[in-house]
Amino acid sequence: MKHIIQHNFNVTRAQRNAHKGHCSFLVWFTGLSGSGKSTIADALEQALFEMGIHTYVLDGDNVRTGLNNNLSFSAEDRSENIRRIAEVSKLMIDAGIVVIASFVSPYEADRNNVRKTVGAANWIEVFVNTPIAECEKRDVKGLYAKARAGEIKNFTGVSAPYEEPKNPDIEIDTTKTSVTEAVAVIINKIEHKLKL
Ligand code: ADX
Repeated sequence: MKHIIQHNFNVTRAQRNAHKGHCSFLVWFTGLSGSGKSTIADALEQALFEMGIHTYVLDGDNVRTGLNNNLSFSAEDRSENIRRIAEVSKLMIDAGIVVIASFVSPYEADRNNVRKTVGAANWIEVFVNTPIAECEKRDVKGLYAKARAGEIKNFTGVSAPYEEPKNPDIEIDTTKTSVTEAVAVIINKIEHKLKL
C-alpha cells in the first residue's frame, strides 16, 4: 500500500507462543446454518481452555452484530464478512491465540482466501456436514421456515448455494457423531500443532 510502511515490533509471535506455552493457529468451521458448528466450536473451546490453551471463538451471529454489522448476506458481503474474519484471525494468531471460527462460509473461493491470509500451516478446516434435512428439522432459530416462506432471501441451502469443501481436514456429520466425539476427533488432529 502506498505511503504505508510497516513497523516491525520487538516482541515476536514466537515469543508470544513461548510465553503461552503453545503454538497458535486457526480452526475454521464451515457448514450450513444449524449444522452444529457453533455447538462444537463452543465445546472445543471449553476443552482446550481446560487444557490451559489460550483460545477465542469468532462466530457468525456474534461478529455480525459488531464488527460486521454493516454486511448483508449477498455474495459480495459474505466475501467481505469472511475477509475481515480472516484478517482478525491473522492478528489473533500473531497474538498467540488458538482461534476457533464458526461461519457458514459457503463459497470455496472465500475459504481459500482465508487459508491464504493466515497461511496454510496455520489453518485447519472442519466441515460440519450435517444433511440439510436435519438442519431444517432442527431449525433452532426458525430461519429455515422463514426462508421457505420467502421471508429471508439468499438463505444458504434454500435460496443461496453452499459449496462443499473438497478436501477438509476433518468432516463431521452430527447425525452420526456426538459433540463429545467431534471434540475428541478435532483435538486428536490438532494436538501436534499445539506443541512448540
Ligand atoms: S456467511 O455466509 O457470511 O459465512 P455467517 O456465518 O456470518 O454467514 O452468518 C450465518 C448466520 O446468520 C446463520 O447461522 C443464520 O443464523 C444467520 N442468517 C441470517 N440470514 C441468513 C442467510 N440469508 N443465509 C445464511 N445465514 C443467515
